[in-house]
Amino acid sequence: MAEQAQNLREFVRKNQGLARVIAVTSGKGGVGKTNTSVNLSIALAQKGQKVVLLDADLGLANVEVLLGLNSLYNLQHVITGERTMAQILVEGPGGVAVVPGTSGLARLADLSETGRQNVMAGLKQMQERADFVVIDTMAGIGKSATSFVLAADEVLLVCAPEPSSIVDAYAMMKTIYQKRDDAIVRLIANMVMNKNQASLVYSKLSGAAQQYLGRKLSYLGMIPRDPHVSQAVMQSHPFVLRYPASPAAKSILDIADRLITQRAASPGTESFLRRFAQTLGLGGSVQSA
Ligand SMILES: Nc1ncnc2c1ncn2[C@@H]1O[C@H](COP(=O)(O)OP(=O)(O)OP(=O)(O)O)[C@@H](O)[C@H]1O
Ligand SMILES: [Mg+2]
Repeated sequence: MAEQAQNLREFVRKNQGLARVIAVTSGKGGVGKTNTSVNLSIALAQKGQKVVLLDADLGLANVEVLLGLNSLYNLQHVITGERTMAQILVEGPGGVAVVPGTSGLARLADLSETGRQNVMAGLKQMQERADFVVIDTMAGIGKSATSFVLAADEVLLVCAPEPSSIVDAYAMMKTIYQKRDDAIVRLIANMVMNKNQASLVYSKLSGAAQQYLGRKLSYLGMIPRDPHVSQAVMQSHPFVLRYPASPAAKSILDIADRLITQRAASPGTESFLRRFAQTLGLGGSVQSA
């Protein structure tokens, strides 16, 4: 316990520069956003990156459940000002700092000015202290659901090979590009049989993006359908740690490598917070944390 507190104190020391903010989203629910967010965060941490994993998925199978965490405080306490972001951080496996979510996020757009400023200050604090802020979002295109997606530096679009998943992923991509001209969307094909099937998912989506939206979708990687994923879920343990030699774990490690080496967004801008404020209808000012 004391060691954990020490680790978190270490964690909240300021970093050089600002973290890359990565939102993980999908069109349809249940296609693997939470599993991708959790395991990718751990893989990034294993490669020496400082990672904050923010749970903005209000579903039942959220990050905390997947990690077997049971936190006392969550983002609601940041919104009300009872706790700072650094105080609610929970140390998750692999040294990832987890920000526990709250159903209050569903009403993000309706928060009081103070509540929104508190969230913004907390996010700023995290962005100053990590290399990556990974946000597990919920499916759907409601205003609160999309505010993190529209503000993020890069969006990872998780898509399964089923036609319904591809159609919904296209709809999500369209919403993102309509609302944000300069969005960077990168595909992760999940639950695919093999690389060929992943290529097929990518060519369908990138073809539609090019033809109907005039946009380029980039390809980040694939995760095969692998029984180790659901086995790990049953054990409330991330597959990248429980089954490090599994095909899914190897793929996630590849994706982490590519994410680190292929930076899609231009570095060093404070644009995430500015865009986030805009999506919430706030001005650009953020109080310092
Ligand atoms: N690569 C995979 N191989 C096998 N099963 C998988 C894979 N990815 C996800 N799953 C299965 O799909 C289930 C749903 O995954 P997950 O909870 O990550 O999806 P989600 O997109 O976050 O769902 P929601 O929209 O409800 O938040 C998992 O419990 C797991 O059993
Ligand atoms: Mg989820």
